[in-house]
Parts: sequence; structure tokens; C-alpha cells
Amino acid sequence: MIVEPKVKGFICTTAHPVGCKENVKKQITYIKSLGENHCPKKVLVIGASTGYGLASRIAAAFGGHADTLGVMFEKEASGKRTATPGYYNTRAFEEFAQEEGLYAKSINGDAFSREIKEKVIETIQKDMGKVDLVVYSLAAPRRAMADGTVYQSVLKTTGEVYTQKSLDLKDNTIKEASIEPATEEEIFATEKVMGGEDWYDWMMALSRAGVLSDHAVTVAYSYIGPELTYPIYYNGTIGAAKKNLHSYAGKINEDLKAAGVSAYISVNKGLVTQASSAIPVVPLYFAILYKVMKEKGIHEGCIEQMGRLFKDKLFGETPVTDAQGLIRMDDYEMREDVQAEIRDAWAKVTTDNVKELADIDGYWQDFYQMFGFGMDHVDYTADVEV
Ligand code: NAI
Repeated sequence: MIVEPKVKGFICTTAHPVGCKENVKKQITYIKSLGENHCPKKVLVIGASTGYGLASRIAAAFGGHADTLGVMFEKEASGKRTATPGYYNTRAFEEFAQEEGLYAKSINGDAFSREIKEKVIETIQKDMGKVDLVVYSLAAPRRAMADGTVYQSVLKTTGEVYTQKSLDLKDNTIKEASIEPATEEEIFATEKVMGGEDWYDWMMALSRAGVLSDHAVTVAYSYIGPELTYPIYYNGTIGAAKKNLHSYAGKINEDLKAAGVSAYISVNKGLVTQASSAIPVVPLYFAILYKVMKEKGIHEGCIEQMGRLFKDKLFGETPVTDAQGLIRMDDYEMREDVQAEIRDAWAKVTTDNVKELADIDGYWQDFYQMFGFGMDHVDYTADVEV
């Protein structure tokens, strides 16, 4: 069938299999262009099918010749419905990895569940022996607990009602968005979903099963951002979850010290992904950020970020961290000259000038490409098998 994008708000309900494959190929070509990194050779990526997790898996496999096991939650195609992009990305990744003689298996299921943890452990025991790097890159809307309780994450403030300019993704106009403060229960639920508890559970389960190498490394991804987005991000519910995640890095380091495990938080750059498109206010900030960083020649996407993380910051001579022990992949984003220009543009931006002050086209290009649309070398008029 011919697959076209069907965009509803911040989500596209179709994905193009050939476009997704092309997107994976492009990321592999980029990673290879950087030359080898010194990443460990047996890698588990939790949240491996899109965004930062997929880029990490590509950096490990095609920059570090690592065998990779990936975990994701994606849907297969059924009838006229295409699969989700992460499903196509994973198929393509496995194909490219196998062509190079690299082990690449993927487990599609709920990473929060005990069942999937057990399946992963069995697969490691059978195929890999042990793993020496665990990347935790989940971005999930909900988490079902073993007792049947379901926690739902929310994207709200934690203080007052917050009113700010926002990009209306339906028509690229600037509107005011008001974000309600979360209740205590909602903050708690968001921490349960996007905080560090499940990361910790994974590491303890892997350790108990004896499938972590001595001196294994684990890294989870976080975001801080500028003061401009603090009310919705860092001081919002998602920020509360990220602070919770940061505290679990310390807990993993403490509880798995005897096994020599090192846990890191990498604070990544703000980028358009399926997860981040859903956050109010943030897409406008990203579109202005893209514009400023592109003009300065320092813009990066997921793959450029992960290329630099794997080559320079995490597996260089020693991991490069700030005073709080965080790896700062947001170093270019947070540069004062970048943020000063963003503040300036933010104060001025209206519907009339948004195309000049923000990289709206770049935002949408990234958005469509996540679903395999708008890629070079793909014939979108051709019939494809979904
Ligand atoms: P994404 O939406 O592209 O990827 C999420 C991944 O998690 C996918 O592989 C998906 O299949 C998997 N997943 C979701 N629920 C799952 C479940 N229940 N079981 C198994 N797998 C599941 O998101 P993105 O943006 O790459 O986010 C990854 C991490 O990076 C998150 O922790 C996010 O907060 C962080 N981050 C994102 C930034 C951004 O601007 N996009 C910036 C800095 C950090």
C-alpha cells in the first residue's frame, strides 16, 4: 500500500517502513563517520527503538562493534494499520547489524513487567553470558505494577497555574497555554513512571541473576533545560521524576558497589522525539533552540548526541561529569550565548514572526522523519509492504 503521514496533534498514526529503514541507515552512516568508540561489547538497551535509545544502540553497535539486546514496546502492523516507527526501526537495525556479523536481538514487551525482565535475563544467559553496559532510555506514559495498580504520568507544573507562550502544533500559531498544577498523587505517579525505581529494579534483577560483568556501567537519560522551561519541565512533574531518577543513580552505585557497577545520568539536549512532542510549551522552546544552534553550527540530533556521549564523554579515558556527577550532553544547549539569544527570541515571538525566530520547518522535518517520512532516497509514491 501507499503510506502517507496522518498527523493528529503531536502524534503521527502511520509510519513508513522504508523511510524508517533509511533513517536508521543514515544514523549508522553518521556513527561510522566518527570512527570507533570504546564502548563495552555486550550491551542491553531498555527503550531501544526510537529517539535516544535507538541512537545509543546504533552508537554501541556501529561505533563500538557491540552485541546488543534491545527492549521496546512497539506495535506490529495489522490489516491496513502500519506498525509503529520503533517496530520498523528495530527490524532495520537488526538487519543492518546482522549484515556486519553483530548479534542483535530485540524483545518487544513491557519493560516494567517482571516477565520481560526475566525474558531478558534468560536471553542474556543463553546468548551473551553477561552484559557490561545497560542503557536505560524509557519514555513511557504509564506503568503497570505487579499488583495491578497502574500509574499514569502527567505533564503538569507542581506549583501555581503556569501560563506561557506555546506553539500550537495544529497550525504553527503562537497561543497562550495554561498548565494546571498537579496533585500530590499525580506527582507521585509521574515519579513512579519516569523516575528511577524501575531502573533500579532492572539493575538489581540483572545483578541477582549474575548477568552483569564486573565493573558494568549503566546510564539513564535526563533533561534539565533553561529557567524558561523550569515551571513546566524541571520544576514540573516530569522534573520531579528526573530528580527521582538522579537519586537512584546514587542508590545503584551504593547497592551495587561490591559488584563494581557504575551508574551515570547523562543530561541530554532537548530534541523532538515522540516523548518530548507531548510536553506543552517545550516544542516552541525546541524550535527556537534549533534555530539558534543551527545558526551557530552546533545543532545536534539524537545520533550526534549519542555519538559524542559514547566517544568523548562516557567511554573516553574517564567519564566526564560536572560537580554533581552528571554527564552534560546539554553543554552546547546551555551555553550562555545560546540561551541569551533564545530569551531574546522568546520575548519577541508571535504568530507573525514565528517562522523567522524559530526553526518551524526544522521542527516538523524532525517530527516527520521520526515516522519515516520526508527522508531522501525514498519513493513515497511506491507501494510498500507494511
Ligand atoms: P522516545 O519516545 O523516542 O523513546 C522511548 C523508548 O521507550 C522507545 O523505545 C519505546 O518503545 C520505549 N518504551 C516506552 N514504554 C515502554 C515500555 N513500557 N516497555 C518497554 N519499552 C518502552 O523517547 P526519548 O525522547 O528518546 O526518551 C528517552 C529518554 O531520554 C527519556 O528518559 C527522556 O526523558 C530522555 N531525554 C529526552 C530528551 C528529549 O528532548 N527528547 C532530552 C533529554 C533526555
